[in-house]
Amino acid sequence: MAEVEKKAFVTGHPIAHSRSPKIHGHWLAKYRIEGSYQPIDVAPDDFATFLKTLRENGFQGGNATIPHKEAAFALVDRRDEAAEQIGAVNTLWFEDGELWGGNTDAHGFAANLDDHAPDWARNGPAVVLGAGGASRAVIHALIERGVSDIRIVNRTLARAQELQHRFGAGVSAHGFDATNELLAGAGLLVNTTALGMHGNEGLSADPVRLPDRAIVTDIVYVPLETPLLAAARARNLKTVDGLGMLLHQAVPGFERWFGKRPEVTADLRALIVADIGAKQ
Ligand code: ATR
Repeated sequence: MAEVEKKAFVTGHPIAHSRSPKIHGHWLAKYRIEGSYQPIDVAPDDFATFLKTLRENGFQGGNATIPHKEAAFALVDRRDEAAEQIGAVNTLWFEDGELWGGNTDAHGFAANLDDHAPDWARNGPAVVLGAGGASRAVIHALIERGVSDIRIVNRTLARAQELQHRFGAGVSAHGFDATNELLAGAGLLVNTTALGMHGNEGLSADPVRLPDRAIVTDIVYVPLETPLLAAARARNLKTVDGLGMLLHQAVPGFERWFGKRPEVTADLRALIVADIGAKQ
């Protein structure tokens, strides 16, 4: 008897830009799994109904992206520790009849640095630029991996202070005017702001102040080399681009829905690099 095809999705509004179908499609073909992973555009008003009908529509689970991550957080039956800390859900699955929501962005961030700069977590203090949803995932990863001095720098100081209260000891909040002073003693610089993104070309911080041992990473991956990473490279600092975070955050979901822990390989990276090149 043929196996029933396993179905997963990514939902957002809009969703056409998502690269997740390419990533999961690559793995489904590579591991010869009878399954599908489809993009589904769901308007915010319809999201609760979409979640309620997942089971009857035959889904194992899927991903939620902008603007559904906070709604998914509120609507699931159970949440994993990372989702709880970050306040957003990007991965959904069923377990013992309940709909679970997890967040794999922190895992993706840490695994990308593990691949390309293995000593990163011992290279504190860390400066994190930005105080939005992506920043929360990065800060959770830093805390989990034992970074004890995390300095959030944000244009709007009040948002950085909110995160300071959320995450507690070891996390401090600063406005942009403090950046240069903070960088002088930092071993890790992370950009989580939209600055440097294609169409928003700006330098989120000047890495000239960082010590020579510093590692610089950006969660923006279009373009692959952001102005921040280019400036850091020109200074001979170790740089890690953001594409690996996107690839690694997809791993836990694929394993839950399709029963196989997939690998992040050079082939997969090349496939998405080509796609970014085509769409820029
Ligand atoms: P995400 O979930 O991707 O992190 P977000 O919650 O909208 O998105 O947060 C975007 C972050 O980028 C914020 O830290 C924002 O700064 P403010 O809190 O001051 O708005 C930052 N950001 C976006 N555009 C920026 C710009 N032009 N200059 C500086 N910071 C910017």
